[in-house]
Amino acid sequence: MTTLEKIVSLTKRRGFVFPGSEIYGGIGGIYDLGPLGVELAGNIKTAWWENIVRKRDNIVGLDSSILMNQKVWQTSGHVESFADPLTECKNCHLRFREDILPKDKKCPNCGKNNWTKPQMFNLMFKTHIGPVEDKASETYLRPETAQGIFVNFRNVVDTMRVKLPFGIAQIGKGFRNEITTGNFLFRVREFEMMELEYFIFKDQSEKDFDYWQKERMNWFISLGIKKQNLRFREHKETERAHYATRSVDIEYNWPFMEWGELEGIANRTDFDLTAHAKASGQDLSYFDEEKGKKMVPYVIEPSVGVGRAMTAFLIDAYHEEKDRIVLKLHPKLAPVKIAVFPLLANKPDLVKKARSIYQLLTTNYQLLPVAWDDRGNIGKRYYAQDEIGTPFCITIDFQTLEDDTVTIRDRDTTKQERVKIDKLAKTLEEKFS
Ligand code: GAP
Repeated sequence: MTTLEKIVSLTKRRGFVFPGSEIYGGIGGIYDLGPLGVELAGNIKTAWWENIVRKRDNIVGLDSSILMNQKVWQTSGHVESFADPLTECKNCHLRFREDILPKDKKCPNCGKNNWTKPQMFNLMFKTHIGPVEDKASETYLRPETAQGIFVNFRNVVDTMRVKLPFGIAQIGKGFRNEITTGNFLFRVREFEMMELEYFIFKDQSEKDFDYWQKERMNWFISLGIKKQNLRFREHKETERAHYATRSVDIEYNWPFMEWGELEGIANRTDFDLTAHAKASGQDLSYFDEEKGKKMVPYVIEPSVGVGRAMTAFLIDAYHEEKDRIVLKLHPKLAPVKIAVFPLLANKPDLVKKARSIYQLLTTNYQLLPVAWDDRGNIGKRYYAQDEIGTPFCITIDFQTLEDDTVTIRDRDTTKQERVKIDKLAKTLEEKFS
């Protein structure tokens, strides 16, 4: 059975994810990405960007700052409403999020059921801009990237010749001082988000909402997540964020909580643009040429955390077989695409030939990164590559020196085929397409 503990252990021992500030005992709800984690997260972000921005002629990208004028957060409603109910166990004095306590309301730490009255706790990290620490210099680390999009709405409309419906997409860090963190990267205090604000005509809200629901669900499935592990869940009115009139989660069947949010899709209406226009005195409307008048667009927002998506991709890809653990990651996501091995490290002819193939793959193909491994026996090398999800391993053996062929081993089937070196590029291209 795939458990979160197995994923945490694999990602630590293979250099995907490390606890933040580990040598000092860690820091709650903060993780660092190791060499393979950077590649995996990068591949997830690239796949999202390609699907959302590059393949569409009506969506553009943005990279706004993490720090913004404090008025942004006052106007967006985050200062007032971006809060969770906090309660304290009167027995052990640990604090928890009241709305996600276990059903029996027993303290997860000491088991008693004796709580203080919940109080709303704002999740934004406060800081100051400049050397003076007063009210005027106060601001927050952004808890969502979306506000950077809304405050740049005018800039994009004026510079990009966009026509409604159109979208502005952004990938960047978000920070939330979560009361209760946990379940690895599922709920952390610093994380990357991939957000799209899709600006539309109000009367198209339902149609566009449905469209994005399907698009986003299909994206996860196209990258290998099993259909049966995904579902939609409509939010009740009481659950919705202060800005949303409709929210649907794409839920994943997590091993630690069964179904839970993977991605959120919300109808934010014209709430944000209207509020910012009023507070800033700027015109944040769009001129509807057909109707010959100005209007404020509605917004459909699909939003997902990179780390949360990464956790789902890892869990879904994790397989234990008789004599190996294998991450059956989609080749597009795999942190290493190909590994090259000389059969024996102490045979200079084999190593030289293998090096030339490594060179060929890294310089001529766009299938990077390619790993080189000449340590231990071949079985151990396959085992290590399976655990990190490398789709293909190429071995250079004694036959290679005779007939210029190499073996390609398939991660999922473990089958090996022999191909001529001059056909290697084409064969790999076909396998990755
Ligand atoms: N702009 C919309 C927004 O922020 P959200 O549902 O609060 O909506 C969007 O967050 C997504 O960000 C979630 O679906 C989840 O994937 C991710 N996310 C939210 N809080 C997180 C946390 N504390 N740790 C990791 N990922 C988180």
